[in-house]
Amino acid sequence: MKKIKTIGVLTSGGDAPGMNAAIRAVVRAGIDAGYKVMGIKRGYAGLINGEILEMNLRSVSDIIHRGGTILKTARSAELKTEAGIKKAVDMAGIFGIDAVVVVGGDGSYRGALDLSKQGLPVIGIPGTIDNDIGCTEYTIGYDTAMNTALDAMDKIKDTAYSHERCTVLEVMGRNAGYIALNVAIAGGAEVVLIPEKTYDLDKDIIKPIIEGRNRGKTDYSVVVAEGVGKVIEIAAKIEEKTGIETRYTILGHLQRGGCPTVYDRVMASRMGGKAVEVLKQGRINRVICLKNNSLIDLDISEALAEKKSIDMGQIDLFRILAL
Ligand code: F6P
Repeated sequence: MKKIKTIGVLTSGGDAPGMNAAIRAVVRAGIDAGYKVMGIKRGYAGLINGEILEMNLRSVSDIIHRGGTILKTARSAELKTEAGIKKAVDMAGIFGIDAVVVVGGDGSYRGALDLSKQGLPVIGIPGTIDNDIGCTEYTIGYDTAMNTALDAMDKIKDTAYSHERCTVLEVMGRNAGYIALNVAIAGGAEVVLIPEKTYDLDKDIIKPIIEGRNRGKTDYSVVVAEGVGKVIEIAAKIEEKTGIETRYTILGHLQRGGCPTVYDRVMASRMGGKAVEVLKQGRINRVICLKNNSLIDLDISEALAEKKSIDMGQIDLFRILAL
């Protein structure tokens, strides 16, 4: 294997708070380890187009507290083609990049795997608010997104309390209910709907609301993961079937921005540092994962094959605590 002297760093897929902290860690730990570090803009699209600039210690000043990603991000359709992969590998060669650190979700990992198969070494760092990468217990941005959603829920609950209403809140998570379930538990919701579990309108939504009213509740919240959808319809059905005035809110991209929490800043810093350490030890085509609360690295193909599933016991607990 060619000796790695220059590393590139890029962010890919949906942005997540803490990505800047990860970039900062890769740049500073990389320079400390003796590497030249190049910032690649706009994810894989920027790699293909050669939007590449050398980073120095000051390139990453004053960013650890900022949401978004200073390198910008994109979802590249071109990298899904053979020609796109070749262009990306060639462009890395033109800029003398010997390995690329990719911060992103599992789609970005698949792109990284394709690059590695064409001879460009890669390291993946998990970055997505959804926490839906199978091989790792944590993905950068998840904690901040949950706290943002929870803050919104707390505020919506104040007004629902005053008006004695029901509120239906849609949080992000196209395929995963991690944000929804945790926000529902932490926010004291009456009902939670996640993509991993089918629901019955009468049994799982209407009944617990009416039973809650019979036990003396005067306001109600229903948290719905984006992947379940239909919040407008669900809100209308609740109002129609219970007679309780109901409003809905779709939080959307609000959850992707904002100041990263302590946990995200520290986890992103640790994962960035670990990525450089792994390269320095001569290991390539690895992804950084949190397992049993420790950072480890796994082969990227094996990591992509790993699955994780939501703890259904948490839903049972949620139901008991929602009484
Ligand atoms: O994967 C992160 C995520 O925020 C999902 O929760 C959501 O479904 C998706 O990205 C939205 O993507 P976009 O920013 O392209 O609308």
